[in-house]
Amino acid sequence: MTATTPHTATVMLECNNLTRVYNEGPQDLTVLDQLELKVHAGERVAIVGSSGSGKTTLLNLLGGLDRPSAGSVVIAGEPLSGLNEAALGRFRNRYIGFVYQFHHLLAEFTAVENAALPLIIRGQSKKVAEQRAMQLLERVGMKARADHKPGELSGGERQRVAIARALVTDPSLVLMDEPTGNLDQTTASTILALMDELAKESACAFVIVTHDVSLAAHQDRVLKLDGGQLIEQKND
Ligand SMILES: Nc1ncnc2c1ncn2[C@@H]1O[C@H](COP(=O)(O)OP(=O)(O)O)[C@@H](O)[C@H]1O
Ligand SMILES: [Mg+2]
Repeated sequence: MTATTPHTATVMLECNNLTRVYNEGPQDLTVLDQLELKVHAGERVAIVGSSGSGKTTLLNLLGGLDRPSAGSVVIAGEPLSGLNEAALGRFRNRYIGFVYQFHHLLAEFTAVENAALPLIIRGQSKKVAEQRAMQLLERVGMKARADHKPGELSGGERQRVAIARALVTDPSLVLMDEPTGNLDQTTASTILALMDELAKESACAFVIVTHDVSLAAHQDRVLKLDGGQLIEQKND
């Protein structure tokens, strides 16, 4: 584990000319308009913007869950446009951790089974995958609830399990849509500290969509999505 200095490190994510036009309805809707973004290894970027400005659209494109109308997304040197659906699935499993706005946990599985799932998909044994998942659950303060199913957990607890699941594969890039929306202040602070550690330990890059002012202020950069483009808000 080597400490990596943000800004001087390698580029983990780059978008050029990124454009997404929705063609449903009578008029085309241009949500992202030749957007540019570069995030280095170990760097944490917050994306803010009003409701409907295109934050989720952007995150879905960065995570390979949607395809752009024009322009490119390159992650760890790999242009996503060059990958077919199967290859994209494998790439996502290897490099990307995604925390959705509404957690998307599997109701029939326990917390530890949910958190272990990306490793099982990758082909690891249940035992090894669940050992690793337990480590992450411990770090998000959910070890004691590992055997509970999502229906037995509060919103904030489910969100923490979703965060553990996103981090279990040691991703290079973590994408989060409102990760602290359901968390109380103490738990949110725990998650922030965990993100700090991971960015330092593993040079993991974070792109976090948030309305939470303190979460945004805690990141290296804050970018505002407005008019289909990203505008720098703060740089320290
Ligand atoms: N699949 C879709 N088809 C058509 N319009 C969409 C689709 N998804 C999102 N939109 C529209 O694109 C705009 C941006 O949506 P979204 O990315 O969800 O914004 P945010 O996450 O910032 O609230 C909104 O006007 C929304 O209605
Ligand atoms: Mg959204």
